[in-house]
Amino acid sequence: MMKKTLLSGIQPSGKIHVGNYFGAIRQFIELEEKYECFVFVANYHALTTIQDADTLKQNSLSLAIDYIAAGVDPKKVVLFLQSDVPEVTELAWIFDTITTVPYLSRAHAFKDADMKGKEVNVGLFNYPMLMAADILMQDADVVPVGQDQKQHVEYARDTAEKFNRIYGPTFKLPDAHILENVAVIPGLDGRKMSKSYGNTIPFFATREELRKLVLSIQTDSKGITEPKNPDTCTIFALHRLFSGEQLKDIEARYRKGGIGYHESKEILLKNMEAFIAPFRAKREKIAKDPGVVEAILRNGGQKARLRAQAKMKDVRKKVGLS
Ligand code: ADP
Ligand code: TRP
Repeated sequence: MMKKTLLSGIQPSGKIHVGNYFGAIRQFIELEEKYECFVFVANYHALTTIQDADTLKQNSLSLAIDYIAAGVDPKKVVLFLQSDVPEVTELAWIFDTITTVPYLSRAHAFKDADMKGKEVNVGLFNYPMLMAADILMQDADVVPVGQDQKQHVEYARDTAEKFNRIYGPTFKLPDAHILENVAVIPGLDGRKMSKSYGNTIPFFATREELRKLVLSIQTDSKGITEPKNPDTCTIFALHRLFSGEQLKDIEARYRKGGIGYHESKEILLKNMEAFIAPFRAKREKIAKDPGVVEAILRNGGQKARLRAQAKMKDVRKKVGLS
């Protein structure tokens, strides 16, 4: 039987963090046997915020290194740069022509930026259509992402339906793949961990960075002996990711009282360091040979582009451009 297709991407907007790893990347890795996988660096999307060529280039390579160090296997996954498939911008344009302004005005990313009084560029406004093009171009069945990207995948699905209605069956309807227990990983201040809140724990952080960050996690002021609610504690939310077998015991001590936040942080630090250290070492090794990573990206780009070109041939015919 033909394998179904999985596709996901991340913007190269800085170092990947614990939320990106557990919310998104780990899912690609777990599914890489079951699906035909396409994973990419969303550098066209990043242009909506990064307008410096060197920074964008460096971040893009760095994200590719992060993916591989985190466990994405380039032998099993087509790993590529979005800009090596320029056909997606053509498809996004075609989607723009069947999409209304009020519909795009409801997208969270646009609404948030607009509400904060930011001057929104047209790229950010159209962001969901480029993302729809990424997804639909490769006939993706599933798109593993964190909760915050759910709406974008719904836009892709709606756009596929609309195109199919106007021009005849062309695109598959994709589904988001979101794991409930890691849908929203909290950051240092208890809000969703996000680069835009400055509350992240970088996934490849050094031991010293981890220490500084974990000790800065915000808590309430309950004393050691007081019972504590694990479900509202950010430290405990991170224990769920890193503390495996100890979790039950820590939870019991929270509920009964007898563990202070400082001790809880120390346990977390030890477990995080044990989890992250091998990934950090692997990343250092891969980063020494960027030429290898560039070759992987070139190769992946060629594969993804071939599929895109075949798809666009059909799309151009359907809309009357060929
Ligand atoms: P950020 O909010 O830090 O800019 P991105 O938007 O680049 O993160 O997210 C990349 C991927 O990681 C997306 O699939 C997103 O849903 C997922 N992700 C980001 N932050 C979290 C989080 N705190 N919890 C779960 N998943 C997350
Ligand atoms: N919008 C996604 C993010 O910020 C990145 C992205 C672009 C993406 N195109 C995609 C994710 C296609 C999944 C599928 O994280």
